[in-house]
Amino acid sequence: MGRADRTFLSSRVARTRISASAAAAQRARELRAAGVDIIELAQGEPDFNTPEHVIEAATRAMREGQTHYTQVDGTPALKAAIIAKFKRENGLDYKPENISAGAGGKQILHNILMATLDPGDEVVIPAPSWVAYADITHYAGGTAVWVPTQPQNGFKITPNELEQAITPRTKWLMLNSPSNPSGAVLSAAELRGLAAVLERHPHVWTISDDMYEHVLFDGRKFATLAAEAPQLASRIFTVNGCSKTYAMTGWRLGYGAGPVELVRAMARLQAQSSLNPSSVSQAAAVAALNGPQDIVRERNAIFQSRRDALVKRLKTVPGLACEPPEGAFYVYVSCAGWIGKKTPQGKRLETDADVTTWLLESGLALPNGAGYGLSPYFRVSFAAEQALLDRACDRLAAAAATLK
Ligand SMILES: Cc1ncc(COP(=O)(O)O)c(C=O)c1O
Repeated sequence: MGRADRTFLSSRVARTRISASAAAAQRARELRAAGVDIIELAQGEPDFNTPEHVIEAATRAMREGQTHYTQVDGTPALKAAIIAKFKRENGLDYKPENISAGAGGKQILHNILMATLDPGDEVVIPAPSWVAYADITHYAGGTAVWVPTQPQNGFKITPNELEQAITPRTKWLMLNSPSNPSGAVLSAAELRGLAAVLERHPHVWTISDDMYEHVLFDGRKFATLAAEAPQLASRIFTVNGCSKTYAMTGWRLGYGAGPVELVRAMARLQAQSSLNPSSVSQAAAVAALNGPQDIVRERNAIFQSRRDALVKRLKTVPGLACEPPEGAFYVYVSCAGWIGKKTPQGKRLETDADVTTWLLESGLALPNGAGYGLSPYFRVSFAAEQALLDRACDRLAAAAATLK
């Protein structure tokens, strides 16, 4: 590798891993390129297109010359649309100086942690969680403190578990509801239970990652910490974005709201990295946030019917266990019943990484639970057509039948 070998690269690179879902998707692409028939259910993005009116607004913006640099953390029009969204959907009041827009929710999370973590600072992350939380924490020089949740508690961190995890070095608690990968949804009452603990620890701030707010099943109502615990508002940062709600992953537009000083610090960092999010994406986000919302509900109904069919099938596969997720578009499947079994190739399955490696050989690419901090599981995304989900279940059933 020439001069850029391990001694040339920074320790930051070594601390930053490739995510389980990205690794599974990449391996699937390689195998497919080699002619292997692979079903990949590792992706974390809606399989729908961006709504037509959003695409039209972006095209118009380009034609009208919105192709220049903008304010670093969002145009006034975008900030107004975000403020209106928080008011309309969450009952939260913000001013433009509370709002930060960036290239995806991921950049917002990155900015928050880069702006606040010093070596030794801890971030409490319920397991399972989206692995990026731990990786960005490490990137920023902090320490991820994984707190395993219990399946019998629906993979939700309890007030007692939170209390036990907090130390004098705790800076952040990460909350994500609906959760990637478990689909767990925190009710208003559950959020208030956690808020009671947080009230006793004024040095702990909370990131509420609401990215899957609109993928919510069985008529559940969405609740967010800033609305349920206004007394904690000065130490809550709420993160959201257009990726999952409006099928806009490629546009890279995320946003958040929180205390002014932190928003300013984040803009300072963003000004020295990517500067403003794409001007065209900002115009598209204005149209998405201010435009008709019925398509969001229609797509949610499709996700729910896929979930129902998928969970029904998964429950019939020997050795696998899962509960219907309450939100998001993933099922977190326990493969505990496969651990210790032998494959036809004579390999004993010891871990969920063994399971997903073997499934890949059987034509199915899925990220393993170790990547999300809780084993032995794998995650199945149902942001894919029903026919593909059915074929994936066929492969899982066929694989299960060969285990000894
Ligand atoms: C829980 C969670 N939060 C945030 C994001 C970031 O999404 P984006 O950067 O596309 O806005 C993702 C994407 O997969 C996610 O799963």
